Amino acid sequence: LVTDTPINLANAYFEIFPEDKQPVWTSPCQDKRHMSIWSGRNCSQLPSLVILGPQKSGSTALHFFLKQHPRLLTNPMTTHAFEEVQFFSSDLYYNKGVDWYISNFPTPNSTSTGTLVFEKSATYFTHLLAPERMRMLIPKAKLVVILADPIKRAYSWYQHVKFHNDPTALIHNFTSVIKASRKNSSSQNLLNLRSRCLLPGIYHEHLERWLEYFPQNQIYFVDGGELVDNPINVLLGLVEFIGVEYLDFGKILKFNPKKGFYCVVSSSKRSRTICLGRSKGRQYPALSKENTQYLERYYSAHNRKLYQMLMKMSRRPPTWLMEEASYRQ
Ligand code: A3P
Repeated sequence: LVTDTPINLANAYFEIFPEDKQPVWTSPCQDKRHMSIWSGRNCSQLPSLVILGPQKSGSTALHFFLKQHPRLLTNPMTTHAFEEVQFFSSDLYYNKGVDWYISNFPTPNSTSTGTLVFEKSATYFTHLLAPERMRMLIPKAKLVVILADPIKRAYSWYQHVKFHNDPTALIHNFTSVIKASRKNSSSQNLLNLRSRCLLPGIYHEHLERWLEYFPQNQIYFVDGGELVDNPINVLLGLVEFIGVEYLDFGKILKFNPKKGFYCVVSSSKRSRTICLGRSKGRQYPALSKENTQYLERYYSAHNRKLYQMLMKMSRRPPTWLMEEASYRQ
C-alpha cells in the first residue's frame, strides 16, 4: 500500500478527475454535523426566493418593488456585480463559498416571524450551472422567471450593451447583429454578440434546464408586459405565491408620466416618486417593422414550445404570447 501527503493525493486525484476541481456547495442547514461546525451563521439568512431574470426583462423593477414589502429582505446594492450577488452564475463568486454568499444578506429578526430573504440576479436564468448549484444549496427556494416579449428583450439588451460601449455593438446596428451569420461571413465577435442577444429569449430551453432541478410548483412566472403596465396586479399574485402577508401595493406604486413607468411613492413626501435610474427605461428609436418580422420568425417555433410548456403546467401564458394566435391551433 502506497500513500502520500494530502496535497499530493489531492493533486493526483484532480489529475484523474479534473472536472471535480469545481466545488458544489450543499446546504449546511440540512445536516446537523455541518450546522455544529458552522458557527455564527443563521440558515434564515439564505434566500428562500430568487428572481432568476433573464436580463432586460424588468428584473430590477420587480426587485425594487418587491423589497418595499416589510417581510421581504434583500441584499443592499452590491458594487461588485451591477447591484446583484450573482453567486450561482459566476465561478469567481461561487468559489468564495457559502459564507460569502450569506454575508451579502441581512439576518431576519428572530421576533418577526414570516420574514424572509430574497435575491435577484438576472444572470441566473441562462447560466448552465446555476440550476444545479442552486438546487444543491437552496432546494426549497421559490423561483421567479419574468417572461418578457423576447423581441423587445433582445432589442433592449442590444441598446444596453451599446450604451456600455461594447465595441462590436458600437460599430454594428441592430439589423446587422440579428442577421449576422457565417454565410454572410460575419466576424466571430458579431456572431457572439448575436448569440448573447438572441439566445436568452429562447425561454423554453432554459426552463427545461431549471425543471430538471426544481419542481414546477416552486417556479412562478411573471408576465413581463404586465409588469410594465400593471405591476400592482403582478405583485398581488407574487406575494400570494410567496406566502407573505397581503400588502396594498396600490398605495406604494404610482405611474410616473415623465419616466413612462411605475415608480415607488416616496415615504417622506407622498407627492414624490422614486424611479429606477436612467439605465432602466431608456429612450431609443422604435424597433423597425422589418426587424420585428425577422425576429417573429426567429422566435416563432420557440414561442410555440414555450406556450405548450406553460399549458402543460396549467399556467397562464403572458399576454404577448397569447396574442400570437397560431400557438393555440
Ligand atoms: P429598457 O431600458 O430597454 O426600456 P432589467 O432590469 O431586467 O435589466 O430590465 C430593464 C427593463 O425593465 C427596461 O428596459 C424596461 O423596459 C423594463 N421595466 C419594467 N418596469 C420598469 C419600471 N417600472 N421602470 C423602469 N424600467 C422598467
